[in-house]
Amino acid sequence: MAKFNERFLDLKESYLFSEVAKRVSTFKEKNPDRDVIRLGIGDVTLPLGKSVVQAMHSAADEMGKAETFRGYGPEQGYDFLRVAIAGHYKEIGADVDADEIFVSDGAKSDTGNITDLFSADNTVLIPDPVYPVYVDTNTMNGRNIVYMNGTAENDFLPMPDRGVHVDIIYLCSPNNPTGACYNKQQLKEWVDYALENDAVILFDSAYESFISDSELPRTIYCIEGAKKCAVEFCSLSKTAGFTGTRCGYTIVPKAIKSVTDDGREMSLNKMWNRRQTTKFNGVPYVVQRAAEAVFSEEGQRESKAMTACYLENARIISDTMNELGIRYTGGINSPYIWFECPFGMDSWTFFDYMLEKAGVVGTPGAGFGKNGDRWFRLTAFNNKENTIEAMKRFRGLFENK
Ligand code: MLT
Repeated sequence: MAKFNERFLDLKESYLFSEVAKRVSTFKEKNPDRDVIRLGIGDVTLPLGKSVVQAMHSAADEMGKAETFRGYGPEQGYDFLRVAIAGHYKEIGADVDADEIFVSDGAKSDTGNITDLFSADNTVLIPDPVYPVYVDTNTMNGRNIVYMNGTAENDFLPMPDRGVHVDIIYLCSPNNPTGACYNKQQLKEWVDYALENDAVILFDSAYESFISDSELPRTIYCIEGAKKCAVEFCSLSKTAGFTGTRCGYTIVPKAIKSVTDDGREMSLNKMWNRRQTTKFNGVPYVVQRAAEAVFSEEGQRESKAMTACYLENARIISDTMNELGIRYTGGINSPYIWFECPFGMDSWTFFDYMLEKAGVVGTPGAGFGKNGDRWFRLTAFNNKENTIEAMKRFRGLFENK
């Protein structure tokens, strides 16, 4: 019999959002008449922008005609999209070459797949709490994980410990789940630490479009030295409503190197290209044309309007937290609100309590790491009416207590 990868035995029994979905569907089976409002998984609710849909239609028409039909595309993405993404980077303050950009089906896959490039011997530094994919994928590979604590005391923005050496560092800013966002000075400290330690930063910027404070960095590449040590992952899922359409991009600068056992320096850009050409056949042409439209003037207007709607929902949730005197972060430069569980409950107990009493679904902080055990995440991705109703029911929890 084939031997199983025993590292999978070190994983939790199910992925966080699968567990949440399972509990909600059990609740719905038992209570078919209850109206449940979902502020759990960060899945968007607004439809794709008109110009994006138009681009998809045109591309679908092209696929239906012999003269314009396309088969396999370049694994790295079509040039038209890579050039549009490079243009976006210029606008947010960084120079990225089109051949440093790899188009993918989303940041989730790439933040996991990138681990293929690194030896299992590396020590990985991962914030706690954070998006569970980083821990799960490194656990699958059996890598040594060191955690850095995000707590209310450091505003959920852990900083490097200069006395400790690591090889790979995951950062997520604006952070999922806490919504906390590093400023330029803090990111500079991370870049300096990575350069001093010959470490690689894996920077997840999937929520960059929610940054409304113009002083905050929307890409790590606006920090000097970052192109020598950071790979950046981004996605159109939350920016332009692509959770079901699937398109993201990963920047692997040509200057970043990794080292072999016998001391040879390997270009991560070349090796990622090697990995992708073997394991990936690219994103559908129709989707890439839709993604290109996101970066057009009209597409940007549409995306900004969507983000504004979600940030308005975030404000409604934050206002409720303020009114009830609950400690929280996020909600300003992020679609997530991360708050301390009320009534001294742990996060899974509060999850069940809020579902049962209010019919509102959130995400238990424990799913993002041990520091989230007494914290809870709500998303702003539902519509305004449901968000207002969910907050009315949330306040009700306190009235009846
Ligand atoms: C979340 O709820 O944290 C997100 O939906 C995760 C993701 O984008 O995969």
